[in-house]
Amino acid sequence: MAYFSAPELVGRTILITGGARGIGLEMARAAIGAKMRVALIDILEVELNAAIKELKAAGGDANGYVLDLTIEADVIKTIAQIEKDLGKIEVLVNNAMFHDPKNLLETSLDVWNKTLAINLTAPFLCIRQVLPGMIKNNFGSIINISTVNSKTMVGSDSYSASKGGLNTLTRTVAVRYGKNGIRCNTVLPGTVVTEPWKERIERNPNVFNDLEPWYPLHRVGQPADIAAAVLFLASDQSSWMTGSEFLVDGGLLAGLAPMYPVVEGSD
Ligand SMILES: NC(=O)c1ccc[n+]([C@@H]2O[C@H](COP(=O)([O-])OP(=O)(O)OC[C@H]3O[C@@H](n4cnc5c(N)ncnc54)[C@H](O)[C@@H]3O)[C@@H](O)[C@H]2O)c1
Repeated sequence: MAYFSAPELVGRTILITGGARGIGLEMARAAIGAKMRVALIDILEVELNAAIKELKAAGGDANGYVLDLTIEADVIKTIAQIEKDLGKIEVLVNNAMFHDPKNLLETSLDVWNKTLAINLTAPFLCIRQVLPGMIKNNFGSIINISTVNSKTMVGSDSYSASKGGLNTLTRTVAVRYGKNGIRCNTVLPGTVVTEPWKERIERNPNVFNDLEPWYPLHRVGQPADIAAAVLFLASDQSSWMTGSEFLVDGGLLAGLAPMYPVVEGSD
């Protein structure tokens, strides 16, 4: 996809968690295209190194930081290092995630706690760490990557609950720090073709085709669909958007696409 670019994005620093692959890496590609300075955090060292190599080969200003976001002391240390390396962080994208597909009865406390630690507590830690710099600069855009699962029940019980908390955290940050020039928005993607789907594809190779009828635009999403929305939220084009839940879901939550023809008798 050829992404839009805006002059104010040039040189603006974006920190993306979980940026070594998938949607996070595509956000980094989009940011590099817009001439932003990119910092990526991930726990996967090999993938992170490959991502940074790719971004640098494309002429990008990219730095990678290996970090387990569940360790508070390391989050504090690493974000301080990023601020030292890059000056200020103007955009933070909380994108890293852990997903477990099990239902509640099969969910262990360890899995529940790990899910909350990566999907909700880590965004809190990262936000708390970047806020003082953003407040000082009277500028910041924080983007939390949630999911349609946080709005309607489509399984993955612990994951969905954690993302519901993330939606609430967005509103808190937006309302409390709007006066400091900080915006905070949530992006809610529908199904996006990435690595975590591998297991489900193994179980059902047609899973994306089977999901298509639920999407009014009749396709599942690609990482670029989400990266484009993130670039918009990072730019001043969205300067009057805060506290929002930005649906990027091919129309999924607009209605029950397979249902209405049955109700109408028009199927
Ligand atoms: N793919 C989808 O269908 C889909 C749908 C809705 C929402 N989302 C959201 O989009 C975002 C990106 O998802 P994706 O599909 O690209 O997933 P992904 O698994 O490819 O990427 C997530 C990244 O987070 C990193 N990560 C996990 N735990 C970490 C930790 N403790 N410390 C540091 N990094 C860690 C992983 O190593 C990985 O690189 C997630 O927030 C996800 O919830 C994805």
